[in-house]
Amino acid sequence: MRLSVIGTGYLGATHAACMAELGFEVLGLDVDPAKIDALSRGELPFHEPGLSELLVKHVQSGRLRFTTSYQEVGDWADVHFVGVGTPQKAGESAADMRYVDAAVTSLAQHITRDALIVGKSTVPVGTATRLAGLIQATRAELELPGEVELAWNPEFLREGFAVKDTLHPDRLVVGVDSEHAEQVLRQVYAAPLAEGAPWISTDFETAELVKVAANAFLATKISFINAFSEITETVGGDITTLADAIGHDPRIGRRFLNAGVGFGGGCLPKDIRALQARVSELGLDRTMAFLNDIDDINLRRRDRVVDLAVQVLNEGAVEAPSTVLPGQKIAVLGVTFKPDSDDVRDSPALDVANRLFTAGADVAVYDPQGNRNAAGRFPRLDYVGSLEAAVTGADLAILLTEWDEFKQMDPAQIAPLMKHRAIIDGRNVLDAKAWTDVGFTHAALGHRF
Ligand code: UGA
Repeated sequence: MRLSVIGTGYLGATHAACMAELGFEVLGLDVDPAKIDALSRGELPFHEPGLSELLVKHVQSGRLRFTTSYQEVGDWADVHFVGVGTPQKAGESAADMRYVDAAVTSLAQHITRDALIVGKSTVPVGTATRLAGLIQATRAELELPGEVELAWNPEFLREGFAVKDTLHPDRLVVGVDSEHAEQVLRQVYAAPLAEGAPWISTDFETAELVKVAANAFLATKISFINAFSEITETVGGDITTLADAIGHDPRIGRRFLNAGVGFGGGCLPKDIRALQARVSELGLDRTMAFLNDIDDINLRRRDRVVDLAVQVLNEGAVEAPSTVLPGQKIAVLGVTFKPDSDDVRDSPALDVANRLFTAGADVAVYDPQGNRNAAGRFPRLDYVGSLEAAVTGADLAILLTEWDEFKQMDPAQIAPLMKHRAIIDGRNVLDAKAWTDVGFTHAALGHRF
C-alpha cells in the first residue's frame, strides 16, 4: 500500500516519517517548495526529538519522498492522509478551513484511481460530511476514473513525544462510513494494533468530536488547577500538594494538573475557541460557554506572573507595571510553550516576556531551542545563548518553560551571577528551600507571596 501525506507541517511530517518507519512507501506533499526542498534533503524545519533521525533514515532508504505535485500523489497513492493546519481565523474564534478545503479539493481533482482520503486535521464537527459531498461532486463533474472514499482519523500526538505517540498511540479513532475504509485503515495501523492499541471505529461526527473533546478536557484540567492557584495565592496553601492529593483519586488522575503559567501551543487554545464558535453556529450558545472561563483563567496566569515580578522587584508593593519595571533586568528562562519543542505559537512564556519588555524591563531571554522562533515574533527582546548569560547581572529570573536544564539549576551557581537574588517559578518545578537557603527571594505561581 502506498501512502501520501498532504501538508508537511508538524503533524504531516511526523506522520509521513512514522509511516515510512512502519514499512510503507510514502510521498509527502506540501504547497511550499522551500519546505519540500529541505525535507527532500533530510532537513527538518522544526525541533522534535527523534524525528530528524527517522526523516534522514527514510529519505536515504528511498521509502520517503516529497513533492509539490497533486498530480503525482493523485496518480500514485492508495491512501492520502490530510494533515494541513486549521489555525484560528484572524480576529475570530473559528477555525480557518481554507487549507483543508483546498487540499481535499485538489486531491479530488487529481486522484485517477481507487483511493481513500483520510482527514487527520482538527476540524469543526460536520466537516467530514461536507467534504465527502464536495469530493463526490468534484469528481462527478470532472468524470474522473476510480472510487474515492473519505475517512476521519484524528491525531492525538503531543509535541516533544510525536514519534512515540504516532508509532505507539494510546488509541486509534477512525470515523468511517464503509466497511472497506475501515479495513484499509486497519491495514495501515496493523503494527500499533498488534501491540494492543485500542481501536475505536465510529461515525464521522464522533471522530471529529473525540479530538476536540480530548483537547477541551485537557485545557479544562489545567485551568481547573490554575483557578485553585488563584485561591491559594490569596489565602495560602500549597497548590502542588493539592494537585497530588486530588490526583490520587483515579477518577481524577494527577496528569495535567500541573499549576503554572498555563497552556499554549498550536492546539489547546485555538481548539477550545473553535469548539465554542462551532457550537454557537449550531445554535448551542450556552453549551460550551464554560470554555470562555477556561480561556480567561488561562490568560490571567500571564497577568499574575507580571504582577508577581512587580511585587518581587518592589519587595511586596503592588503597582502598575509600567511605573515600576523600567531599568530592571529580568532573565526569562524558557519561551517555548512547553519543553522539548521549539514551538512558540501562543506561548504563555513568550507572551509574558513581551509584556515585561512592554512594561519597560530589560529582558534577557534564553531557551534551549526556542530563541530563533521567538526572535521571529518579538525581535526586540535580548536573546542570549546560555542560561548563565541570561542571569548575569539580572535583578530577577523567571522560569516559564520547564526544560530539564532549568529544573536542574544549582542555586549556589546562579546566585553569584545575579545582581539581586530573586526567582519566580512559573511552573512549580523548583525546590523553594534550595533557593531560599542561598539567600534568594523565591515566589511561585499557586503560592502566596
Ligand atoms: C496537545 C494534546 O495534549 C495532544 O493530545 C494533541 O494531539 C495536540 O494538542 C494536538 O491537538 O495536536 P501539545 O499541544 O503538544 O498537545 O501540548 P500539551 O502537552 O497538551 O501541552 C499543552 C500546554 O499545556 C503546554 O503549554 C503545557 O505547558 C501546558 N500544561 C500541560 C500545563 O500548563 N499544565 C499541565 O499539567 C500540562
